[in-house]
Amino acid sequence: MQNVTIVDHPLVQHKLTLMRRHDTATSKFRQLLREISLLLAYEVTRDLPVELETVRTPMEEMQAPVLMGKKLVFISILRAGNGLLDGMLDLVPSARVGHVGLYRDPETLQAMEYYFKVPEDLPDRRVIVVDPMLATANSAVAAVQRIKSAGAVNLKFLCLLAAPEGVKAFSTAHPDVPIYTAALDRCLDDHGYILPGLGDAGDRIYGTK
Ligand code: PRP
Ligand code: URA
Repeated sequence: MQNVTIVDHPLVQHKLTLMRRHDTATSKFRQLLREISLLLAYEVTRDLPVELETVRTPMEEMQAPVLMGKKLVFISILRAGNGLLDGMLDLVPSARVGHVGLYRDPETLQAMEYYFKVPEDLPDRRVIVVDPMLATANSAVAAVQRIKSAGAVNLKFLCLLAAPEGVKAFSTAHPDVPIYTAALDRCLDDHGYILPGLGDAGDRIYGTK
């Protein structure tokens, strides 16, 4: 599928398999998510531009690369998106953080917004929107729409698992926003859950079921 990058690094795939197991404990699930999010952040930031600056090493002066251009902001779709933030911030501690509060109505599967707080200078930033699950994509489509309305023009979407239905819906709504995921699963079930998936990401991160 165009517009989708699947991060097929063996470490990512191994950790994802451990997370999928139904009997993985909440604490272990959270730890794995933190680890895997750092690896996913590495991939999603691969094309950040650099510029050369003059550095004096203990031996001599050289031209060495440093990050340049637009600064990063990670925007988490609450609540499960927060499970990805810590690992990403370990990698890019200077990134700003925004939050979009959304939940899926269990009957209609439509996204219901309850919170929105993002940095004011979004037009000047590279935005990475994070949520572990892209199922119907109703949540991601609504979140990205809201973030664009707040001025963002340079966006990527990062998740852990995507369903083909969600990729199609998201790419139709936001063809300008590339998707990064650790896996593209088979399909959705009748309740909008990803198969084979890993269950309800929020419940697994926070132990609420
Ligand atoms: C989950 C997940 C996504 C959404 C994906 O959140 O974290 O936000 O479902 O489903 P969709 O692609 O069909 O919209 P949920 O609504 O369960 O809320 P939570 O993060 O608060 O648990
Ligand atoms: N949200 C989840 O947490 N899991 C799914 O499989 C689908 C939506």
